Amino acid sequence: MLRVGMLTSGGDCQALNAAMRGVVKGLYAKRKDVEIYGFLDGYKGLMYSNFNVMGAKDFSGILNKGGTILGTSRQPFKLMRVPDENGLDKVEAMKHTYHKLNLDCLVVLGGNGTHKTANLLREEGLNVVTLPKTIDNDLWGTEMTFGFQSAVDVATETIDRIHTTASSHSRVFIVEVMGHKVGWVTLYAGIASGSDIILLPEIPYDIDAVAKALKQRKKSGHKFSIIAIAEGAISKEDAKLSKKELKAKRAKEKYTCASDELASRLAEKTDAEIRVANPGHTQRGGNPCAYDRVLATRLGATASEMILEGDYGKMAGIKNNVIIRVPLEEVAGKLKYVDPESDVITEAKLAGISFGE
Ligand code: F6P
Repeated sequence: MLRVGMLTSGGDCQALNAAMRGVVKGLYAKRKDVEIYGFLDGYKGLMYSNFNVMGAKDFSGILNKGGTILGTSRQPFKLMRVPDENGLDKVEAMKHTYHKLNLDCLVVLGGNGTHKTANLLREEGLNVVTLPKTIDNDLWGTEMTFGFQSAVDVATETIDRIHTTASSHSRVFIVEVMGHKVGWVTLYAGIASGSDIILLPEIPYDIDAVAKALKQRKKSGHKFSIIAIAEGAISKEDAKLSKKELKAKRAKEKYTCASDELASRLAEKTDAEIRVANPGHTQRGGNPCAYDRVLATRLGATASEMILEGDYGKMAGIKNNVIIRVPLEEVAGKLKYVDPESDVITEAKLAGISFGE
């Protein structure tokens, strides 16, 4: 009997179910003696031995369904070595569940934090295979994570809708897109929706440059403007502060988010009528787009091959449209940022988009 544990951890995204289905279909295509142990709500299920024994049927009909049939939760990596409120050693508890169930391996679907813990479990001797999920697309070792393209589609549609009302009312609209540390979703949705200004965490903005870009657009006859700003976008002066100084400054200013701060600072510098829109978690919700279904299926099927070959300790990723296997120690703890010098940024600038520099 092949016993495979499976869990989804961290913030959810589209195509988690598609990826699990890919794994399970791949396994059952080659072997009939497979048991899937679906751990509920992420690493929590593994810690507290909360699982369902599942088979091929449980993963049928879920290719196009958003969310995750296993549930998920955030279990910060930095707290993994800290005992829970009842003194439970979380890492030992996860290992205990794995050995108690006599698992052959564990399939983990997750983003950055999840991969740090997956690598820790690998170091602790468990057989781990991972799949890269996150709308943020910030996982090192893969050019693309599933969830990203679907989130870009949602954010693009939101900005498209904002466009028509911004145009009718001759307003400046600031749309805040998900991404605290990286600006991939903002960059792609910003370009796809024809946003005039795109502000990313990787390119700190100059408020005067943003105001100037708005004034230039007005001067050239455009009555409205759209700014796509990432959750984690930061001004040039704030980027110079230490973490502690920034925290103190933000507590004093009491802005609720990046778009709120930008709106209030722009109101001092322009006479534009400004509105803010925040699509928030809608970007992570709903059904996966076709691209994500394909990517998740390819990655999931590859994970099934890795399991059957016993090729553990790796993440299935994609590079140049080829599915690759990347060692977990290379993936864990690294973020994939937008490179301000990359072609896509240069081309966006050629197309007239301002990055507020
Ligand atoms: O999944 C990543 C992410 O979507 C970030 O872009 C966002 O800032 C964060 O999750 C918010 O997630 P939650 O509300 O679940 O903590």
